[in-house]
Amino acid sequence: MAEKYSVPLLQAHQLIRETWGEIKPRTSIICGSGWGEIVDGLSPVSCISYEHFGLMGKTTVSGHKGNLWLAKPQGVEILIFQGRRHYYEGAGWAPVIFPALLTHELGVDNFLLTNAAGGIREDLHPGDMMVFTDHLNFMGSNPLIGQVPHPAIPRFPDQSEVYDSALRKKIHQAGNVAEQTIREGNYLALSGPAFETPAEIKAFARLGADAVGMSTVPEAIVANALGLKVGAISCISNLAAGRCSNALSHEDVTETSRLALPQMTQLLASLVPTL
Ligand code: HPA
Repeated sequence: MAEKYSVPLLQAHQLIRETWGEIKPRTSIICGSGWGEIVDGLSPVSCISYEHFGLMGKTTVSGHKGNLWLAKPQGVEILIFQGRRHYYEGAGWAPVIFPALLTHELGVDNFLLTNAAGGIREDLHPGDMMVFTDHLNFMGSNPLIGQVPHPAIPRFPDQSEVYDSALRKKIHQAGNVAEQTIREGNYLALSGPAFETPAEIKAFARLGADAVGMSTVPEAIVANALGLKVGAISCISNLAAGRCSNALSHEDVTETSRLALPQMTQLLASLVPTL
């Protein structure tokens, strides 16, 4: 394993065992912008600050708290990463991909990613939930450049099905139980931190992108390469640039996510026991 990751992973694993004993969660979840309060609705037990996991460091973006939670909705153990690190924060890939590596290290099979995204496709509106069918990586980089971070990751990982189709089906079934319409689409990831221009959004629409954002894809690439079952859900927080007349702001993004919190919490609460 890349030296950079092996010791921090081992230490994180040990700290988790010392704190929570022999837990056996089957699912870990990363909370996107404004989703941190999901924890409250999923029977939280206790948390460990990311600052104890050397490579994770401190989150620097508002709406991202920086705790790993053990939660037990309906008695089912899950891990929740309350807050994400982004490539644009400038700390490199290590803090971004650490949750995927830690999920694998702990023997957790299902990796669920959530985020807020701009809606490109015409039928996507603020408040809609969209499960990823696939992604377009326009971040201008790849988290697997350089030494592979883990021996289980091949040099050239297959990406024919990054997002597990059986997991996607279960997300739709959970949506039915929660009486929610879950849409599907391709997510296009950029590094950010600037939002897109209207011309870029027009071009991305022609390329087959349905929604756009600044995250999720790096974690999904690494988790898929590690053999985890990956699922990703966007809450459409705004119409993408040029589809709306107003200027885009992070505050509006987190506010829409906050309003959709009960919906996302219900969806995850229905989903988790089925995984
Ligand atoms: N663009 C990029 N990232 C985003 C957006 C957007 O419109 N909305 C939420 N995250």
